[in-house]
Amino acid sequence: MNKIRDILREATGRIGDHRLAEAVNGVYESSSSRETILLTKDFWDRLTTNTWPQETLRFFASGWHDLHQSAFFVAGLQVRLQRDAASWSPEHLPDLIHASSELAEIISEDTGVDGTPHDELYRNFARSLTGDDLWSLDRYTVPACKTFRIYVRESRLSAPISNAILAVAASEQWNTAEYSLCSQLMKNWQPSEAVHHCRLDLEYVDVHAGETELGHLLHALNAWRFFLKTDPTADQISDVSTIFQHHIDQVKLAYLGLHHVLDNTKFH
Ligand SMILES: [Fe+2]
Ligand SMILES: [Fe+2]
Repeated sequence: MNKIRDILREATGRIGDHRLAEAVNGVYESSSSRETILLTKDFWDRLTTNTWPQETLRFFASGWHDLHQSAFFVAGLQVRLQRDAASWSPEHLPDLIHASSELAEIISEDTGVDGTPHDELYRNFARSLTGDDLWSLDRYTVPACKTFRIYVRESRLSAPISNAILAVAASEQWNTAEYSLCSQLMKNWQPSEAVHHCRLDLEYVDVHAGETELGHLLHALNAWRFFLKTDPTADQISDVSTIFQHHIDQVKLAYLGLHHVLDNTKFH
């Protein structure tokens, strides 16, 4: 069994709403999703069963950073929600409070309200992986990962609010599986032969594995339900399928880019 698929299905089992869960599971069974799952698993297997030159590790650190670290855009979505609420009728204001606080719980760890800000944890991880901070220079950008980041930004900041919340949910569910898989695979990984690799700092990876991102998925879906109370016309289960599938398709393109980084590695 493919572990990513198992974790995605387990997460769907926690959604509760049968209609919603069925739509989400349908997405993960599509041929495009199966390809994405295989491609992702293959990437992590390949990365963590080999040692790599510092340059390759820097490209990876930059590309993977662009796939995550997007709490800023969720905060932007919260701003949009607050603005939108200015035009709501007063009886819906409790729904605003509930929807907004559900969104807040998605980014409480990322922003450092609970624990160390995740940007700091990522920098510690990347420094322990690559030996310095040069990975954040523009020259290590992985174009497909940058494109993914633009999709994430636009899906939170430009799409209709209902769809934006669903895009966050799709991302949290995928991340549950991705982090749970890679935290296992990285435990025994020696990334490089270089001297600086005495210890890989995995706190960033470990704090996202297991229940963390799963909890964010459930908060996002709660936020969506509260928002729908103010705009029932947005309750389209077909939107769920489209938005979740679109997320998986974007993940696939990003992972093709990460594979490309490994393909292009020059060993001396
Ligand atoms: Fe995070
Ligand atoms: Fe999350």
